[in-house]
Amino acid sequence: MSRLDPHSHFDDLQPRTRRWYLRFLVDFDRKVLNGEATLVFASPGEGRLDLDSKGLTIFRAWVPALDIEVPFELGPDDPILGRKLSLDLPPGTLAVTLAYETSPEAIGLQWLEPAQTEGGVQPFLFSQCQAIHARTLVPCQDSAIARVSYEAEVVVPEGLSAVMSAGPAGDEPGAIPGTRVFRFAMPQPIPSYLLALAVGELESRDLSPRARVWAEPATIAKAAWEFAGVEDMIVRAEQLFGPYDWDRYDMLVLPPSFPYGGMENPRMTFLTPTLLAGDRSLVDVVAHELAHSWTGNLVTNATAEHFWLNEGFTVWAERRILEAIHGPAACAMGWAIGQQALDESLARFADHPELTVLRTHLDGIDPDDAFSSIPYEKGARLVALLESTVGREAFDAYVHAYMKRFRFTSITTEQFCAFTEEHFPGLLAQVGAEAWLHQPGMPGNAPVFRSAALEELEALAAAWTTGTRPDPERMRAWNTNELLVYLQHLPRELSLSDCAWLDGELRLTARGNFEILVEWLTLAAGAGYAPALPRIREVLVRVGRMKYLRPLYQALGRSPATRTLAREIFAQAAPGYHALSRRVVQGVLDKFPA
Ligand code: BES
Ligand code: ZN
Repeated sequence: MSRLDPHSHFDDLQPRTRRWYLRFLVDFDRKVLNGEATLVFASPGEGRLDLDSKGLTIFRAWVPALDIEVPFELGPDDPILGRKLSLDLPPGTLAVTLAYETSPEAIGLQWLEPAQTEGGVQPFLFSQCQAIHARTLVPCQDSAIARVSYEAEVVVPEGLSAVMSAGPAGDEPGAIPGTRVFRFAMPQPIPSYLLALAVGELESRDLSPRARVWAEPATIAKAAWEFAGVEDMIVRAEQLFGPYDWDRYDMLVLPPSFPYGGMENPRMTFLTPTLLAGDRSLVDVVAHELAHSWTGNLVTNATAEHFWLNEGFTVWAERRILEAIHGPAACAMGWAIGQQALDESLARFADHPELTVLRTHLDGIDPDDAFSSIPYEKGARLVALLESTVGREAFDAYVHAYMKRFRFTSITTEQFCAFTEEHFPGLLAQVGAEAWLHQPGMPGNAPVFRSAALEELEALAAAWTTGTRPDPERMRAWNTNELLVYLQHLPRELSLSDCAWLDGELRLTARGNFEILVEWLTLAAGAGYAPALPRIREVLVRVGRMKYLRPLYQALGRSPATRTLAREIFAQAAPGYHALSRRVVQGVLDKFPA
């Protein structure tokens, strides 16, 4: 037996799944998917097949063409991996079908009550499978190494629509009265973590011949305006990284409990509604998810231990797209904001230096617990260092060659190194890649990104302690990222009158731009600035994006004066949070004394 992925029972000596046929009946009353999954093998197989499963009730397994029962056995429940599902395939098996049901607690799914949606009338369902939650939706070889194409049929209550990480293949009234069936096809082989499904009251708007945005009716106009520039991004990205290989680039704006900023589900990027700032200032997240179409979805990390290959390359790619659109100064601002996130993660993992290396070792560790900005920002800095060492032209040729060599495959850090060594002999040694990949913290030769505007903003913020206040008229002229950089560099210990001055001049508590709002509310919470507390509660109860929950609960929890409030707000908000968000907040609050 040969297991290659510490987070999967996938065994490359056993039959390998090449294609899935999925049938889901979406049951909002019981909060379960009633499922039938046919796994088609690359070649006829026999004997033992180990699948991943978590929380699934398996009713039956059989060889579809012959209707031969397939004996199966579920192993013990592991809190991270779930239960190994072992099948015993008869000789010459081309495909096996499993009839099963998901658990209402499936971590890969969030079932929303109508009250948690914008429209307030219909329920909503969405999936989030990265890193290892596809097994809570489908019994499968849940490793990025075992790529599959898929077709799916989703039966939903009439009046609701389904979208997937796949191309639409028609919809019609379902066989069961009061239902509608939606069909999908994903012809390209994808890692299992890119399986995605959402069901709700949805509308769509075309943004270009190949790009469309989906959202609830109440949000669709705003979403279409916010993301109108997506075709320009696709064109720029194609110039940088080669042809877009996924046919369509559609996006779905989710309800506010979506735990991430974005998720690069192929052909259907999932996005948080907190990006709808009304001024297109937060579309860097779209650039990021779009960039994953190359770095991540085309060339994929083999396992979560090589996650930096996905995210580090994608942050670098995202900033190249932004530079192409907005120029180098805006790009430097992006790197500066990333530096803050990196510093925060390094501080948070001070007691876990093993999680600050790029090539991690995660046997026995839940990938969700290892998540931080380190693979993103340290990874992007390594890529940028390689780029600046060989020069942009040579590096761009290398990136094209990398895509060509590894497209539609899942690779390890070691494969990345071998390819880089082949393309640029000696480069890895020259930049000290060994330390970047395998040593904790930041190496001394990390690239620094500066600009005149950045220097000025940081100097202004540093001067705060000497009593220097910027001209409010000028502050109001700053764009989102400029104001964000300024706020991030202010001293953390503001007085109440400092807070009142900032809030009075800039109307920060009333802002609708979540990057600004949350940065401000974090400062205000840290200072115990009471006028901001109702707004903090409002944000924490409505929004489940983990990036915002962590600093806000942290700031409230740190001070004994607001600690009880933090726990009280959590008790109120928790039922509406995704299980992932709940876990993160619980972890933050557990660190504070009762
Ligand atoms: N693929 C990630 C989200 C993710 C990572 C989900 C790991 C589950 C496990 C996505 O591309 C991402 O990085 N999103 C960021 C966007 C940001 C870096 C621009 C986010 O959600 O904030
Ligand atoms: Zn990403």
